[in-house]
Amino acid sequence: MMTSWFQRKPSADSAVWLRTITAALMCGMVLQSGAAAPQTGAAAPAAGALRQAGEARHITIGAAAASAHLAEPDYAAILGSEFSQLQGENEMKFGVIHPRPDSDPNPYNFKGGDALVAFAQSHTMVVRGHTLIWHNNVPDWVKNGGYSAPQLAEILHGHIKTVMTHYASKVYAWDVVNEAFNDDGTMRHTIWYDQPGIGAGKGTKYIEQALRWAHEADPGAELFYNDYDAEMINQKSDSIYQMAKDFKKRGVPLNGVGFQMHVSLRYDNPATLASIAKNLERFAKLGLELQITELDVRLDDSSAASLSAQAKLYGEITTLCVQQPACKAVQTWGFTDKHSWIPQFYKGQGWALLWDEKYQKKPAYQAVFDGLAR
Ligand code: XIL
Repeated sequence: MMTSWFQRKPSADSAVWLRTITAALMCGMVLQSGAAAPQTGAAAPAAGALRQAGEARHITIGAAAASAHLAEPDYAAILGSEFSQLQGENEMKFGVIHPRPDSDPNPYNFKGGDALVAFAQSHTMVVRGHTLIWHNNVPDWVKNGGYSAPQLAEILHGHIKTVMTHYASKVYAWDVVNEAFNDDGTMRHTIWYDQPGIGAGKGTKYIEQALRWAHEADPGAELFYNDYDAEMINQKSDSIYQMAKDFKKRGVPLNGVGFQMHVSLRYDNPATLASIAKNLERFAKLGLELQITELDVRLDDSSAASLSAQAKLYGEITTLCVQQPACKAVQTWGFTDKHSWIPQFYKGQGWALLWDEKYQKKPAYQAVFDGLAR
């Protein structure tokens, strides 16, 4: 079992994993599926329980994080103890990490990303990179630079190469392309699809090109396509599935698919959950690794009834991953309601994460723990 745990993270810093295993063994943890399953029941899980319960299931437990919050003691303590993976919520996006043109003496800004990697390494966590290509967070110098198609292609190639080389052996997996499809399954029009001359009118060609460049830049990294509202079987997930099937058939270096899972309580019905399970299964059959990458369950209020319904859905989603062997990670989009993106983007909604704004565990925490332990 220990061997398979190692093999699952071929590109992660082995020293980090060695430290993780050593720490786990020192805690008396048994690294065998099932054997270490913490008992559910009256006793509240001890600090760090989520991550340990995940390790026992071979599921990485992640959170999106921001380096600015690391100075908050509660934030750092929970992130560093309860999670085995982190991902920059914004700090590895194009506009943040590559804010100036390549003609500038200092085109890149790795400060935030480097701080997150350093935190992860000192807390035996692995790091997921997010994201190399997205229609959002494209800096003005790219949008307004008047570049020709070949120049834009060169900018993109250089970006992928520089960022991935910088984080080689530190970031084990990348969301190479994020949100490239519309809800109806057609390709989304973005600067990267329309203009660099490698995409428009050529379907998924620019995604293929990006994956090939990414593989060249860091052959050890796991390469993901990531999207939202593709959890169920629908037009968008159908298109992603067709792309993934085609890529696998032709040896395009795609290792996994990330399902963001930004959901509301509406997802909690048997038909939806069954559709998600079926969808995960068809992607798994292609030989892909699956990850839940941006989980949150937004609410309209923080009543006890809402928090309990939220906990139920968190538990069910965790179970979906546990029951699907190809599902290797459950990552929430942040972890405290104090720093969640939801109130800003979904007016009137919030309370979406496992800890409240005062860093107190919510019922959803226990439900995820129970889902892993079950
Ligand atoms: C969001 C961040 O949480 C916000 O802080 C930022 O202002 C906008 O982006 N899908 C994604 C993430 O892939 O990158 C988005 O993150 C949320 C939706």
